[in-house]
This record gives sequence, structure tokens and C-alpha cells, in this order.
Amino acid sequence: MPEFVMSIDQGTTSSRAMVFDHAGRPVASGQKEHRQFLPRPGWVEHDPVEIWENVREVVAVALSRAGLTRHDIAAVGLTNQRETTVVWDRRTGSPVCNAIVWQDVRTQQLCDELAADGGPDRFRAVTGLPLTPYFSGTKLKWILDNIPGARAAAEDGNLLFGTVDSWLLWNLTGGPDGGVHATDVTNASRTLFMDLRTLQWDEAILAEFGIPAAMMPAIRSSAEVYGTVHGSQLLRMVPVAGILGDQQAATFGQAAFGPGDAKNTYGTGCFVVVNTGPDIVSSGNGLLSTVAYRLDGQPPQYALEGSIAVAGSLIQWLRDNLGIIGSAAEAETLAGTVPDSGGAYFVPAFSGLFAPYWRAEARGALVGLTRFVTKAHIARAALEATAFQTREVLDAVNADASAPLRELRVDGGMVGNDALMQFQADILGVPVVRPRVAETTALGAAYAAGLAVGYWSTLAELAANWAEDRRWMPQMEETERDRRMRLWKKAVTRTFDWVD
Ligand code: G3P
Repeated sequence: MPEFVMSIDQGTTSSRAMVFDHAGRPVASGQKEHRQFLPRPGWVEHDPVEIWENVREVVAVALSRAGLTRHDIAAVGLTNQRETTVVWDRRTGSPVCNAIVWQDVRTQQLCDELAADGGPDRFRAVTGLPLTPYFSGTKLKWILDNIPGARAAAEDGNLLFGTVDSWLLWNLTGGPDGGVHATDVTNASRTLFMDLRTLQWDEAILAEFGIPAAMMPAIRSSAEVYGTVHGSQLLRMVPVAGILGDQQAATFGQAAFGPGDAKNTYGTGCFVVVNTGPDIVSSGNGLLSTVAYRLDGQPPQYALEGSIAVAGSLIQWLRDNLGIIGSAAEAETLAGTVPDSGGAYFVPAFSGLFAPYWRAEARGALVGLTRFVTKAHIARAALEATAFQTREVLDAVNADASAPLRELRVDGGMVGNDALMQFQADILGVPVVRPRVAETTALGAAYAAGLAVGYWSTLAELAANWAEDRRWMPQMEETERDRRMRLWKKAVTRTFDWVD
């Protein structure tokens, strides 16, 4: 058996390849950002061809940094930004348009039209999801309705739909020359088309949206051999053996395998996932019901999820759109020069508000401004926004769950920010715990692929790899915590009903 497993993590802002060893330790990685296309307010697109090129490039970088070849890699796991929608021609491999990214709210009107008959929760009982532009369903319908020739080509059986995992799997396994057109249950559970119980596409919903069933990928488990690589010489004949949407991959990488286990990933957005075991728990508090993972031949494990659209991308926005910082790291330094946000609250409802509000019409607001407020306060308010949003989601989790969460396992790019993690513990009132391997998204996909090919054998073996790195205890007085939350909630209300 080769000694390593590779993970390809295709995220919202960048693509990464990481090599892991048997102890779950990262050995080497490559990373490359891709372009963000923002053609109109609320629209966000990626170029799928650029993403596929970047993936091949980062695979090469990771292998060369590790000094390895494909013969050293037992399997490849895929993890991806979820919901982002790609439609391509099966004969040529060319996308019919840019990918519509999960953050894109262009289909809000379409959602309103569909909700007119039965309300925004009309598909929730079957899919676990509210009707919002976040999920792939209305994005796919938009492409078929708006890209010239797309609907006819789809009806002729020439177009394929996929989330980014499907797009990469199809290309990795040969593209137009026999590429495998499949997705896993976790990604499928984010489309608005999958029945959470049967784990199959729901024909009635597909018909309602006017989606030809022939363009849908096959739904497979999260850990099985889907095919072997033919589309990249560097990994030729290596099995692709794991697929998980990135938030589910992080949950898996945190070894949150059992009911009640939870994690929060601080990336472009921020996503709390709580494992609910074999039960589908329906939220009365604005959380999604989704699939956590399914191992081949075993029943699915479900989860409740609190999705926050904007976290790290707010820091990127301060850098790219306002220019008040030169790099993301500078946000921490700048915010560290002031003790608090000077009364400023920043609600980054750039893509509407996700959990627990689900208000697609909300737009961002920076409130509480006085002449006292400097760019350092704004940087601090931007970081604090992530902690406030997480607290609101955890309140929803605790309201839905039988027992409250006693601590929060965290991972993702922003958890290197000690001040933010301390503030997070302060605002939550429970400890925040960071594992030694904070790259849990990539690790989770590696775990799934390694399990499928027998590189790892049991979940217990994976759980034994988990080790605590650091723990932040709450230090803020409860009255102060309550005061800040009250002001935050007031700030949130200022974002509502902004779209005419
Ligand atoms: O649902 C969107 C999510 O999968 C994106 O994750 O890590 O790219 O922010 P990330």
C-alpha cells in the first residue's frame, strides 16, 4: 500500500492539494487563488476551466514539495465549495457559462415566485432546505432559462450539471473520454433536489424546476472508489475514493462522527455543523437539515447546519474593496491596536443573511459610527461580526438540541487569529477548542478516500489522530456579553428589507 493520501480542496477563493500521512499529519501542500467575477451587485461567478487548471497545478506543487510521485499516493479525496453550480457540454467538456457561486443571489426573484405557491419552506420536508438562492436548484434553472441554447442542449442530453466535486471528478476521470459523472450524498443534499430519506433525486422537484433528469450526476456514498485518474498525468491510475462537501469534510476531519459532535469552520463563510446521527432532525430555528456523510454500504449520518455566508470574505473585502488593509493578516494587527470596536457593528449581509434569518433581501450595514471610529475599529468590528454570527447560530443549535453544546471545536483559516478566538469564547460563554491539525477540511476528504481503499480501517482509528492544540476559556462578564449581543441583534435588524 502506498504511504500517503492526497486531498484536493477546491474552495471559494482558492484550490489546494494536500498530502497526508497515516497519522493524519499534513506532509506538503500547494495552493492557488482563482479569480472572482462580480459582474453585477449580488452576482458571484468562477471560471470552471480556471479552477480545473489550478487543481492540476496545485497537485503538481504538492507532489513536488513532498518529493513524491503518483506511486506514493494510495487514493485521492475531493472536497469542495458546495452549491456552486457548473453546467458543461459532455461532448467537449466546455462549460456553457461561468459557475454560479453559492454566494450569488441573482435567483432571489425566482425563489420568491416559487415560494408564492406554498411558502419558502415548501421543499423543506423532502430536502431539509428552505427555498433560497444559496442552493444549486434555482441557479441551475437560471442557467437553463437564460443561457441561449442551454435548455435545448440539456433536453437533447448533451449537457451535464454538477457541483464543483462533480466537475472535478468528471475531468479527473477522463472528461469527454469516459469521465465519471457522479456526486456524493453531502453535495447532493445542497441542491434542493435530493430527497434526504431516499438519497435519490426527487423527480417531482426536478419536474417543477424543469430540469432534465439526464443531466443530473449519479448520487454515491462519500467514501468509495468512483473511478481512477486519467485526466492528469501526475496522478494517473490513482483511485478517486472520497467526496465530501467542504463543511461535511471538516466535520469528518474533526472526527465529529457521533450524534452531538459539532464543529465550526471559519473560512470564506462560517459553518457550524452538528452531527445528529441516523436521525433527520428538522430545525424550528433556522438551521438546515443535511447529510453529514455516508460510508459505502452503511446508513447515512445526518446533521444540522448553521450557515453564515460572510466571515473571512469580509476581511478580503476590507482589503480588496476598501483598501484599508494590505493583507488579510494585517486585519488582526490593526484590530489589535484597539480594545474594542468603538461602538461600531458590521453586519456583512452581502449575500443576504443566511442562518438563522434566511433573508435574501438583507444587505450589509455598518452602524454605530461616530467620529471616534477609526479603520482599526472597523477592522475589529469586521472580525467580531464572525463571532456574533456564530453565537446566533449556536443559540439556534441549542434551541433545537436536547442538550446544549458545552464547547466548540473550531477549524479553518481564521482560527490562527488568537484575539478572534478569545472573543468567540467570550461571546459564546463556552470554551473554544482548536485541534492540532486545523486543516480539517482537506483532512476529512483524505480520511474518506483512505477509508475507501483500506489505507485506514475504522473511524476509531481516525478519531485517535485528533489532538487538542489550544483552548480559549470565556473571560467576559455575562452582563457585557448580553449588552454586546443586544446591540448586535439591533444592528442586524438594520439590514432587513433593503432590496426594493
Ligand atoms: O456552502 C458554501 C461552503 O461550502 C463554502 O465553504 O470554505 O469555501 O467558505 P468555503
